[in-house]
Amino acid sequence: MNHLLGVKELSAQKIRAILKEAFYFKNLVQKKDPSLQTLLANHVVANVFFEPSTRTRVSFEIAAKKLGASVINVLQESSSIVKGETIFDTLLNLEAMGVDLFIMRHSEAGMPHYLSRYLKTPIINAGDGAHEHPTQALLDLMTIVEYHKNLKGLKVVILGDILHSRVARSNIFCLTKLGVKITLCSLPTLIPKGFSDLDLSISYDLKSAIADADVIMVLRLQKERHEQNDIPSMKEYVKYFQLNETLSFPKKALIMHPGPVNRNVEMSDKLYNHSQSVVLSQVRNGLPMRMALISIFLRNEFLAR
Ligand code: CP
Repeated sequence: MNHLLGVKELSAQKIRAILKEAFYFKNLVQKKDPSLQTLLANHVVANVFFEPSTRTRVSFEIAAKKLGASVINVLQESSSIVKGETIFDTLLNLEAMGVDLFIMRHSEAGMPHYLSRYLKTPIINAGDGAHEHPTQALLDLMTIVEYHKNLKGLKVVILGDILHSRVARSNIFCLTKLGVKITLCSLPTLIPKGFSDLDLSISYDLKSAIADADVIMVLRLQKERHEQNDIPSMKEYVKYFQLNETLSFPKKALIMHPGPVNRNVEMSDKLYNHSQSVVLSQVRNGLPMRMALISIFLRNEFLAR
């Protein structure tokens, strides 16, 4: 792999190999294996974030540091981009300084893909516009398989603002490749038109969609990206599509959310803290998944056998 730009480009075999590598790193972290601290010594990882982030940026930084790599953070507001330098020139200069791996978030879909055509240094896409967020989908997959061993035929309901969600897209690509059945549930205006051509189901009725779900993946209502007519009103959205304690769903169903969450909007406070909620397990799994990916790109090999 030269870059990790999206899950769409990954084969099922490659996804399984990455998953195995992430569990290998999780085990090493749990054992406090001393070899981790020097695995990537003398490597430099640049977190290039041109859109806000808490989980992804910090998790990549901790992951790289746990492997002995140096980390630099380049944020748009404190870089020479504000003086008119292009992103391409910024990354070209960082490459000249010896950066070995770029972790990149950008508000424009396709920005990491564009840059990958001109840079020699590998790029991991940490979220590009409403397009893809591959590392989120991979850590979500890791969390799902910890609870549901057999993915084939599993029913995952993706609920909420699918139209603006890069997490939804990456999860749809990832999970369908592994035989998972996906149901998208939302208002018609929050489901992209082209998605009806994909191998998945669409439901506008929350109650029936989650009645036999194995996983309920709730997405943030991305108010900052909404156009005037995307939702009739917040009150109505909450009434028909909020996941809350008045609804029935199976005892085995995992409740997931990639974060950041709008408590009591797409999901009630009670369900965020519910015994079936694995939201913080997702965050915890982000660390070994990102350790695995950084190691794969910097060492050019898989360590798990
Ligand atoms: N899930 C996720 O991408 O969160 P951040 O925007 O905080 O990185």
